[in-house]
Amino acid sequence: MKEFRQAKWHMPTIFEIGAGDRSGCELPKLDSVLRQAIGDPSTFLPKDLMRTSPPNLPETSEVEVLRHFTKLSQMAFGVDEGFYPLGSCTMKYNPKINEALANLDEVNWIHPYQDESTVQGALELMYKLSCWLIEITGMHSFSLQPSAGAHGEFAGTLIMRAYHKHNSHLESKDEVLIPDLAHGTNPASAAMAGFKVIIIPSGIDGCIDIEALKNIVSKRTAGLMLTNPNTLGIFEKEIVEISKILHEEGALLYYDGANFNGIMGKVRPGDMGFDIVHLNLHKTFSTPHGGGGPGSGPVGVVEELDKFLPIPLIQYDGEKYYLDYNRTYSIGKIRGFYGNFDILVRAFSYILTMGAEGLENAAEIAVLNANYLSKRLANIKGFELPYDNERPRKHECVISCSKMKRETGVQAKNVAKRLIDFGIHPPTMYFPLIIDEALMIEPTETETIEELEGLVDMFAEISKEAYSTPNVLLEAPHNSSFSQMDEVKASHPRTLCLSWRMHQRMKHEKKD
Ligand SMILES: Cc1ncc(COP(=O)(O)O)c(C=O)c1O
Repeated sequence: MKEFRQAKWHMPTIFEIGAGDRSGCELPKLDSVLRQAIGDPSTFLPKDLMRTSPPNLPETSEVEVLRHFTKLSQMAFGVDEGFYPLGSCTMKYNPKINEALANLDEVNWIHPYQDESTVQGALELMYKLSCWLIEITGMHSFSLQPSAGAHGEFAGTLIMRAYHKHNSHLESKDEVLIPDLAHGTNPASAAMAGFKVIIIPSGIDGCIDIEALKNIVSKRTAGLMLTNPNTLGIFEKEIVEISKILHEEGALLYYDGANFNGIMGKVRPGDMGFDIVHLNLHKTFSTPHGGGGPGSGPVGVVEELDKFLPIPLIQYDGEKYYLDYNRTYSIGKIRGFYGNFDILVRAFSYILTMGAEGLENAAEIAVLNANYLSKRLANIKGFELPYDNERPRKHECVISCSKMKRETGVQAKNVAKRLIDFGIHPPTMYFPLIIDEALMIEPTETETIEELEGLVDMFAEISKEAYSTPNVLLEAPHNSSFSQMDEVKASHPRTLCLSWRMHQRMKHEKKD
């Protein structure tokens, strides 16, 4: 087992270090020639934009800033540091060539207010990326604007709404169907777009129960949101039948592309019968994840829905690329400018460097790795692979610790926290909700056989501990920067402190 011990620094915030008048850089004085040319800024700047006192910025030297953030990074964990099998999130390695491209001056210094004629290269890159996504998914057109998968879902369900409104059955079509193992963002997006959410149960094979679906689908059904492979890692093999059932009622089929890594290059949502698709570029196409952004969740549609896509759409007239705002039926604008451009550059770089064969190969290895792990882990005492354990998985597998909990009191969260001690990011826990004590594990194609075997050894060690010294697990993690958190307090909005302003306000409230 690898020795792992995370750094622990007791650190003040960046605002609490440094001293007045200390600075990491020297800004040039306002040039006297320029001052003469433009005049005194205080005479022409709008009064409400002028500050009466300098902004309250940290005053630190360069080395103070560097050490501060280096220490913080040592207390975090990333995919560049170790195995990160967070199921459904596809935390695969982000190749550094993507960074090199995204850090070119032409990308870094571009401004969204530049005239179209001066940003033809950027528009061409986005146009070509859309064309590749169209080819990869079998859709007709794509908007690159959404900043996350959930944002793509919201745009997609608004498109669903606009389509039914356009066809004058919005009043009667007010329900969106969602399987019981869907990600929470699916019902949230449908509800935000104004639909009622109806849950469809899964059958004993871990797929949608077709008979239940037939009973639930009605004239009121506006659409079905589905991820395929689903969140158990199982491919919904009846997808063509599902699409037929929905389409016969005039409903649309929405594809949640979060799990696309297991099928890319093999099968296309368009060919399965989906009408609307979102892809999470920060998952499948190896761009960095962010907490709610800066990700990218492009949304694609079939030809009939093209007119509803958000504006502007990037078009090519044979000579130049341009932003098309002239779209009467569009759901409108869903974010500032044209999407997270530097993330799009990284995805472009990934697809370009991988090529069609490379993408297909990546999906094959991702599936091989997930199946290898599912078989090895399900054979360890205390762990099981629920729902048709003979059936191959795609991108991920969900292991249940239910037996271990019954026999030793050790729960999925204890296993996850003990993995931190071995230098592994915990898998996704307690999702999907239909599996008791779930650990959802997605190795991705970028992990080696040695890394996978290492994880198997850790699970074997954890199993031994659970049946001999469970307290080691119940008190884990022992080797990380922070040990067990108060989980209720950590997620309570009144105690969660997310910014310096909140910190100051909370300090104030405490004093009062
Ligand atoms: C199945 C599924 N759908 C949707 C999402 C939402 O995607 P995002 O995190 O990009 O908003 C996730 C996130 O992990 C997911 O796993």
